Amino acid sequence: MNMCDDIARILYTEEQLAEIVGRIGRQISEDYRDKNLLMVSVLKGSLMFMADLMRAVTIPCAIDFLSVSSYGGGTASSGVVRILKDLDNPLEGKDLLVVEDILDSGVTLSFLLKNLSARNPHSIRLCTLLDKPERRRVEIRPDYVGAEVPDEFIVGYGLDYAERYRNLPYIGVLKPKVYAG
Ligand code: IMP
Ligand code: MG
Repeated sequence: MNMCDDIARILYTEEQLAEIVGRIGRQISEDYRDKNLLMVSVLKGSLMFMADLMRAVTIPCAIDFLSVSSYGGGTASSGVVRILKDLDNPLEGKDLLVVEDILDSGVTLSFLLKNLSARNPHSIRLCTLLDKPERRRVEIRPDYVGAEVPDEFIVGYGLDYAERYRNLPYIGVLKPKVYAG
């Protein structure tokens, strides 16, 4: 079985993603020129975005990772957020940039930003590859956005459905029949 058969349509090709990531990388390199940049990837969805984005950043930076649970196996946020893997290092004095794959209801990120702010970073900003503004349930505005996407279930380039499709090199809409019933 081929994963591509489950994709209704492609939203962003590899080439388009490279262009988007390059643009954000240049902006971050400018904005953080004299800062103490720490890029924090929210696992696992932001894996590919993080790997490409940090290579598009031309200033010195450190990286760290954390992992939260929000969805279980479904396609809608449960509202329950748990830190499964925390950062390795404290945040004092750091200019923290949280790197996310997709901002949906905002429940996960608003929890996370509150939690990280309490650790006294010098500054904190949010960078998300994709934004689904229609679905927002919590007031939260990202500082860097790659692209806005419609209210459909999206996979590829790190984004999963039930842990699959992360390895697609492009971003596409999953056929609803894959998760229906
Ligand atoms: P939120 O708490 O509803 O904003 O959910 C954010 C997280 O849900 C993201 O980091 C993704 O892991 C996941 N997510 C939300 N929408 C999608 C989607 O369309 N495809 C894949 N994962 C999604
Ligand atoms: Mg996910």
